[in-house]
Amino acid sequence: MKTWKLDTKHTSYIISLTDSGHLEHLHYGIRLGNFDLGLLREKMPYPTGLVLDEYNPVSLEDLPLEFSTYGKGDIREAMVEIETFDKNRVSDFRYVEDRENSVETSLLPSSYGANKVLEIETTDMHSGLTLTLVYRVFEETDVIVRSCILKNDSDEPVIVHRLLSAQLDLNRNDLIWRSFDGHWGREREVHEKALNAGILINDSKTGISSNRHNPLIILRAVNCDDQIGECYGLNLIYSGNHATIGEVNAYGKSHIVWGINPHSFAYPLLPGESLESPQAVLTYSNQGINELSRHFHELINQHLIPQQWQNKPRPILINSWEATYFNFNEAKLIKLAQTASEVGIELFVLDDGWFGRRNNDASSLGDWDVNTKKLPGGLKRLSDKIHALDLQFGIWVEPEMISPDSDLFRAHPHWAITIPGRIPSMGRNQLVLDLALSEVQDYLISTFTKIFSSAQIEYVKWDMNRNLSDLYDGSHNHRYMLGLYRVLHELTSHFPKILFESCASGGNRFDLGMLAYMPQIWTSDNTDALCRVAIQDATSQGYPLSTISAHVSAVPNHQTQRLSPLETRFQVACFGLLGYELNLNELSSESLNSIKQQVLFYKEYRNLFQFGTFYRCSPSNQLNLTDWMVVSDDKSQGILMHFQDRAIANPTTQIIRPVGLNEETTYDFSNRPFDIDIGVFGDLINMVSPIRIKPDSLLHKAVRKMKVLHTEMEHGTADGRSLMYGGIKLKQSNVGGFNDETRIFPDGASRIFLFKKSE
Ligand code: DGJ
Repeated sequence: MKTWKLDTKHTSYIISLTDSGHLEHLHYGIRLGNFDLGLLREKMPYPTGLVLDEYNPVSLEDLPLEFSTYGKGDIREAMVEIETFDKNRVSDFRYVEDRENSVETSLLPSSYGANKVLEIETTDMHSGLTLTLVYRVFEETDVIVRSCILKNDSDEPVIVHRLLSAQLDLNRNDLIWRSFDGHWGREREVHEKALNAGILINDSKTGISSNRHNPLIILRAVNCDDQIGECYGLNLIYSGNHATIGEVNAYGKSHIVWGINPHSFAYPLLPGESLESPQAVLTYSNQGINELSRHFHELINQHLIPQQWQNKPRPILINSWEATYFNFNEAKLIKLAQTASEVGIELFVLDDGWFGRRNNDASSLGDWDVNTKKLPGGLKRLSDKIHALDLQFGIWVEPEMISPDSDLFRAHPHWAITIPGRIPSMGRNQLVLDLALSEVQDYLISTFTKIFSSAQIEYVKWDMNRNLSDLYDGSHNHRYMLGLYRVLHELTSHFPKILFESCASGGNRFDLGMLAYMPQIWTSDNTDALCRVAIQDATSQGYPLSTISAHVSAVPNHQTQRLSPLETRFQVACFGLLGYELNLNELSSESLNSIKQQVLFYKEYRNLFQFGTFYRCSPSNQLNLTDWMVVSDDKSQGILMHFQDRAIANPTTQIIRPVGLNEETTYDFSNRPFDIDIGVFGDLINMVSPIRIKPDSLLHKAVRKMKVLHTEMEHGTADGRSLMYGGIKLKQSNVGGFNDETRIFPDGASRIFLFKKSE
């Protein structure tokens, strides 16, 4: 009996061929050594439900399979559904042959560097179409990447209604389905529900992967958390409409399919043509979600992002958006850049507003000529001046869009996605260019090749600020994606030295498809530290810190009006790709000095923050606290952030428990010192002041300037074992008195602790 066993370091994925020619899924989970086929196979001498019995009785309703199709007794959600010329949607694919390492080049974004590739070819008994399943095995990262290719080998055209990328059938019904949902400014809120009788769908119909439902899904056993237990991770290397559909069948087996959203999907295939599904990512851990995340992180860092950015340190940037919005000129930008350079920032990014008549968001997308009223010397002169300040230079673009009020629209109205005779839906006053048209793709490639060559540009922020609507037909969204991927491939390979950052109104397209071309993504327009803790924590479950762009912005925060301490804004942004996005010239000299220290600190530990192994290690009994940790590969260094969203009066002891250190190694640890504004005490300052100081009076301000408090210091030496399992009890906070032995820890406070192998 033919059997395929795909092993990674800690997992096995096992398939076997039934006598009927179906591909039975035997196992996905912990790695098996010698296994007994007889034990793993389904026994169905008297199958219930409908039966296919030309060879041996088989009940497709309940047999765990590599793919389900519609109409022969398998009543679970299908992975593949095709309408043949006679309007029939029933298909019955059976095994033909299998081969290793023979995948053709693809138009879709792809993982690379698999240790092994297996292809299994099947054919439909009814139409003669060929369906090839592809499995890529990543041994070290414990990941299996699946995809499939459907070829119309018949003499008639067909319509593909479903071609999902992967299916996972499991002999269990005890899983919790974790999804990452939200909206603008609230990206990737974590929700959980039981995967049980009935159907759960996580999908996007927005035309892009979306902030409404990220393609990442985690299935965890009830007793699994970040540190322990069994879990499965699913994702998709794609940026368009996606769906993950999960159900538990009448026999208590879980069945999950994921890929391009079948909703409204209808893709015509002429004889001889093929359709390839995007690649689906699958991983498993029996050691909790931190370990599952690590698999995703390594896949992305080592096998997905453009190779030239692998392990390449990313610069600390200043972005002009929240500093100036549309209201700038060359002098203002240079002033900002000057201060940025003085505090040690490395890259200046000119955001929206530098082209056409773009003084607000009502016009000019498509008119990519420099606005010489704002920048008389063009991008070239600005870039030269920025470089003279010892900074790199980057720009913002939004190539996929067109403003109805633009010369481009007036010249090519049919380039915008609209349905003739109907009024199109608008988003941020703009329409979407039809990237399914090759003339539009060519136009974008040549326009942006010119722009990116017009000055010394080291970084590009590629934005995309509305969802797709008014698509013509069921294949349009996918054809748009293929066009987009062609444009991205051409431009990013033509400019391999430019660091591209993907953005879509913040994190509206935070997905593996975009990461295949651009190694980092603007995580959210919400830069409030407290909100960012939740957003980055959730994002980290599927995506590494090297992809998570994170900026320190002004207070009151522009999205929430919250006041968070500057040091917390920084310490949260440290766990990602650090940037600043505020008018540095409006800050006090004390704040600028703090930023100088922050930049120095981040530079010293940049590799750890961007490429270290990341762990979520929040104390499980205190919901107002979040702890994160990064550890170097050799485990000689680690950094832990301890964050508190809400202060509690007379609180219980706070204990930090580092994760990921070496049990036997001895570490010195201490917290990162910084200054605390005595303003946090308000009126209480009078408890120690010899004269009465009225809060907010000139005297109060003067005293705040002259007298700063230093953070408490906590340090010690211990081995990894006692640090990780015994923990470190922190000094008391928020009690009646205050001295060196207490911790000032109001709402939004945080501390960073450094662990270094003792000499
Ligand atoms: C949306 C992005 O998320 C912002 O950072 C900024 O670039 C604006 N677009 C500019 O229009």
